[in-house]
Amino acid sequence: MNILLIGSGGREHALAWAISNSPLLTKLYASPGNAGIAQVADLVSVDVEDHGAVIGFCKDKAIDFVVVGPEAPLVAGLVDDLSAAGIKAFGPTRAAAQLEGSKAFTKGVCDEAGIPTAAYARFDAKDPALAYIREKGAPIVVKADGLAAGKGVVVAMTLDEALEAVEACFDGSFGDAGAEVVIEEFLTGEEASFFVLVDGTTALPLATAQDHKRAFDGDQGPNTGGMGAYSPAPVMTEDLVARTLSDIIEPTVATMARRGTPFKGVLYAGLMITDDGPKLIEYNTRFGDPECQVLMVRLKDDILTLMLAAADGTLDKVSARWKDDVAMTVVMAAKGYPGAYRKGTEIRNLEAAAQDPDIEIFHAGTRADGDRILANGGRVLNVTAVGKTVRDARDKAYAAIARIDWPEGFCRSDIGWRAIEREKSS
Ligand code: AMP
Ligand code: GLY
Repeated sequence: MNILLIGSGGREHALAWAISNSPLLTKLYASPGNAGIAQVADLVSVDVEDHGAVIGFCKDKAIDFVVVGPEAPLVAGLVDDLSAAGIKAFGPTRAAAQLEGSKAFTKGVCDEAGIPTAAYARFDAKDPALAYIREKGAPIVVKADGLAAGKGVVVAMTLDEALEAVEACFDGSFGDAGAEVVIEEFLTGEEASFFVLVDGTTALPLATAQDHKRAFDGDQGPNTGGMGAYSPAPVMTEDLVARTLSDIIEPTVATMARRGTPFKGVLYAGLMITDDGPKLIEYNTRFGDPECQVLMVRLKDDILTLMLAAADGTLDKVSARWKDDVAMTVVMAAKGYPGAYRKGTEIRNLEAAAQDPDIEIFHAGTRADGDRILANGGRVLNVTAVGKTVRDARDKAYAAIARIDWPEGFCRSDIGWRAIEREKSS
């Protein structure tokens, strides 16, 4: 099969790496890709916002299947337009991608299906939102309704922070994404991510993971796209996985199907494990980045077969098996990220750093300049290791990082700390 992969991050490098090992693959193209993806795919430059151009490319190159990595093209309806042109794709339609594209939409699904989630109210005007916050008090959570590249959520520990967040939303800080706000009850507990493939009716559980959203050690500093992850997440016991499937995932899949907008693709549930059990914080309608990286190195089965089954409605006929090993990925970012940072600095010694067979270095934001690899983004590398325990995977990942020569980069030094505390006490 000829495959086109859309995206340019570490998630897409991990997908490209896994797809490149598939017995079903003839040729892999990636747009726009990065220097790591170029090791396993032909990089092409197709304007993803121009759906006609994507369709034209697919016809020209006899593409059999398009894998969409990031959320924006899904919410923009790329999969709808590809399907209408007779081209098979992995990912939800525009209507089903509303599970990520609108927080209010997801809350509506939760109401309809009785899914456990934080209590909430939604507002399309500022004054009632401010009044609601004054009535409820802090801590409280303020969310811009639409896609805001991970920046639309304020977990306000004080009343002032919450009021300011509402002002920011309605002052246009998040553009259209902030035209409506969702204000939520503050949940306490440990967070975990759970990934399932869905084919419209069947949900096939993949695996659990835990991300580290803050930029600096000790979960300090600003929120980022994610500075590291590991899988599995020890907090997600078998019982909690079963409850998440029966109380959250399956009712969502059934509700979307009943509404006539069945969900297909990967559903990523962000969960809070509270004293009352798992509650849904949010859905994403694509793989997590960097969570995808740790899933791909643990997956024993063929990812392409699984993604095709999600598109074809045959997930009940396949299985996904996982290595017992723990995987960890540590993000190396350009100094300054998530604020301003430099591009174009040189990264050396990547090959030597990846010598250990338990290490994969996925590129998140790089470009090649002849033989040189240059940083080309905020999150730049995902140093990924498998090991018998979280501590083992962590030691391998940081040993590889120590060999990478990139003075302009930084990483957190404490990825996996929660799970390592757990290993110590068990
Ligand atoms: P989101 O962009 O929706 O994933 O939210 C970003 C982060 O905000 C989450 O990973 C949580 O850490 C936090 N968060 C979101 N909603 C809540 C909530 N209701 N209670 C506590 N923390 C939350
Ligand atoms: N790592 C968080 C996300 O992909 O949304």
